[in-house]
Amino acid sequence: MLTGRDAARLAAVERACAARGAAAVGTAIDVTDGAAMRAFVTRTDDEAPFDLVIANAGISAGTGAGEESEAQLRALTDVNVTGVINTVAPLLPRLRARGRGQVALMSSLASFRGIAGAPGYCASKAWVRVYGEALRGDLAACGVGVSVICPGFVRSRMTAVNRFPMPFLMDGERAARIIARGIAADRGRIAFPLPMAFGSWLLAALPIALTDRMLRHLPRKA
Ligand SMILES: NC(=O)c1ccc[n+]([C@@H]2O[C@H](COP(=O)([O-])OP(=O)(O)OC[C@H]3O[C@@H](n4cnc5c(N)ncnc54)[C@H](OP(=O)(O)O)[C@@H]3O)[C@@H](O)[C@H]2O)c1
Repeated sequence: MLTGRDAARLAAVERACAARGAAAVGTAIDVTDGAAMRAFVTRTDDEAPFDLVIANAGISAGTGAGEESEAQLRALTDVNVTGVINTVAPLLPRLRARGRGQVALMSSLASFRGIAGAPGYCASKAWVRVYGEALRGDLAACGVGVSVICPGFVRSRMTAVNRFPMPFLMDGERAARIIARGIAADRGRIAFPLPMAFGSWLLAALPIALTDRMLRHLPRKA
C-alpha cells in the first residue's frame, strides 16, 4: 500500500513495482488530513493487518530566501510532525493488541543539531526521532518494533533544488537498500552514511558556543 498526493506518480510507482513482481496499490491522500488518514489506515488494516507501516512523507524548506515565515514553519510541522501522528496513531492500539508489527519513522541526520539554514525542518525531524526512540521503548514489551531512519543527503526531488555541495550524497536505491536492511533487522536507529552520522553526533555533543561558530557559515536551504 502506497500513499502520496499525486495520483500519476503513484500509478508510475505501482507499475514499477509490478514490473519487479511486487503488488502495490497507490492511494492519493494528504497526510495532513487527520480524518481521511484515520479512515484510510483503519480501513486498510481491517482488510489486511499491517506488518509494517513506514511514515515517510516529508517536506523541506529553510532560510535561504530570508527568515523562515510562520506559514513555512506551520507547513513543515503539519506534514513532518502531524503527518507522522496521522499515519501511526490510529494503528498503534491495533499493533499493541496484536502484539506484532513494525513502525518505521523517517527522521534525518538534520535532527541531531539545529542549523540556521533549516530551523523548522531540523526541529520537525528532531521531534520524529525522539518520539520514535521513546515509542520503541514503550512498544518493546508488546513485541512491536520501531525503527527511526536518519539519512544524510539522498538524491531525490527534495535535494535536487539544493545549490550547495552535499557531502556523501547517495543514490536513492542505495539508501533504500540500507533502510530495508535496517528495518528487517529491527534496528532502532538507521543512520547513514556513517561519516555524516558520526559528524552529526559530534556536532550534537560539542559545546554549543563552538558549534554555533562552525555552523553559522553553512549554506542555507532554499
Ligand atoms: N533526500 C534527503 O536527502 C533526505 C534526507 C533525510 C531525510 N529525508 C526524508 O525522507 C523523506 C522522503 O523525502 P525525499 O527525499 O524522498 O523527498 P521527495 O522526493 O520530495 O519525497 C517526499 C515524499 O513525501 C510525500 N509527501 C509530501 N507531502 C505530503 C503530504 N502532504 N501528504 C502526503 N504525502 C506527502 C511526497 O508525495 P507527493 O508529493 O506525491 O504527495 C513524496 O512521496 C522525507 O520525510 C524527508 O524529510 C530526505
